[in-house]
Amino acid sequence: EIFPVLLCGGSGTRLWPVSRKSFPKQFVPLAGQGTLFQAAAGRMQGAEGVKCPLVLTNSDFRFIVAEQLAAEGIRPSAILIEPAAKNTGPAILAAALQLVAEHPEALMLVMPTDHSIPDAEAFRATVAAGVPRAEAGQIVTFGIRPDRPETGYGWIELGAAPVDGQAQKVARFVEKPALEAAQAMLAEGRYLWNAGIFLMQAKALIAAFEAHAADLVAPVAQAVGEARKDLDFLRLAEAPWEGVRDISVDYAVMEKAANIEVVPLGAAWSDLGDWNAVWRENGGAAGGAVTQGPVTAIDCEGTLLRSEVEGQHVVGIGLTDLVVVAMPDAVLVADRSRSQDVKTAVAQLKARS
Ligand code: GDD
Ligand code: MG
Repeated sequence: EIFPVLLCGGSGTRLWPVSRKSFPKQFVPLAGQGTLFQAAAGRMQGAEGVKCPLVLTNSDFRFIVAEQLAAEGIRPSAILIEPAAKNTGPAILAAALQLVAEHPEALMLVMPTDHSIPDAEAFRATVAAGVPRAEAGQIVTFGIRPDRPETGYGWIELGAAPVDGQAQKVARFVEKPALEAAQAMLAEGRYLWNAGIFLMQAKALIAAFEAHAADLVAPVAQAVGEARKDLDFLRLAEAPWEGVRDISVDYAVMEKAANIEVVPLGAAWSDLGDWNAVWRENGGAAGGAVTQGPVTAIDCEGTLLRSEVEGQHVVGIGLTDLVVVAMPDAVLVADRSRSQDVKTAVAQLKARS
């Protein structure tokens, strides 16, 4: 049996000042359809052997999550509330520990909820190709063919010949490389991007944490063990969670474990994770200016100009490779190549407030 594990506790900080702590991008309705979160929740619904999803979120988002699931007619197997965001490592470990307690042989399919994968059918076929490998104890990642030296993703170096069907051994996993390293890997050609989706036995994941990030296991297990029911939610215990290290699953486990394999993702995929991606996916790839809202661009190249401020026009003249995003209470002006660093700015603002 496969349990989808939906991660939706991130606040999309790289899309500040539009994505905010209180209402991040995965819950924002898109024209004509549901939200990215709803699409992710529904992606595996009805597939063979697939159980109700386990959702990991925080206290602020719990009612948004419950409402958006109900609107799709999806019953979660549990909604776990993290007392504080500790990144994906502790969240996924908590899900694994919660699952094995009742389902020792469970497979978990970890999915971010802020990606767009329009073809659910193709996605399910790819997941099915990974199931035998996960059942054999492997951690299965899903790979995307890279077309640029992206520093915001994990990079997967392909190992020896296919081990089974579409699965291939991972020789090396490099999370968020520096630009030069990304350029070298792109030129080398034996690399895929990590889609951020993982399939494995819950028990195999716990073993990987025990081997590579052992300090997380006892406090996270205690937070799960002492979790308290609150309406339809399960709140992880605060005291043990407080001391848990903040780390993504990619750094904690994927860069270190030896039992990792990759299946090429046979479906279109996009992660609109930062302003550079918003620029690129909205026609910027050709090199021009992308304008969103009441803005005017004159002789601008490689630039995103966006405003959500009614009654105030933003004009750019002769700009090259910039990102300008205006909100009523904040304006971002950044070199487009520094889009990843918006995260740092948000951290600084948070520290000051
Ligand atoms: N519950 C919970 N708690 N969810 C979280 C937390 C947390 O503390 N932090 C992040 N998330 C959720 C986000 O909402 C998102 O859905 C997912 O986990 C991934 O987190 P991101 O912060 O978006 O990760 P990333 O984009 O920097 O990197 C990951 O995804 C890339 C592909 O998009 C990595 O796995 C990369 O290797 C990968 O290439
Ligand atoms: Mg992301």
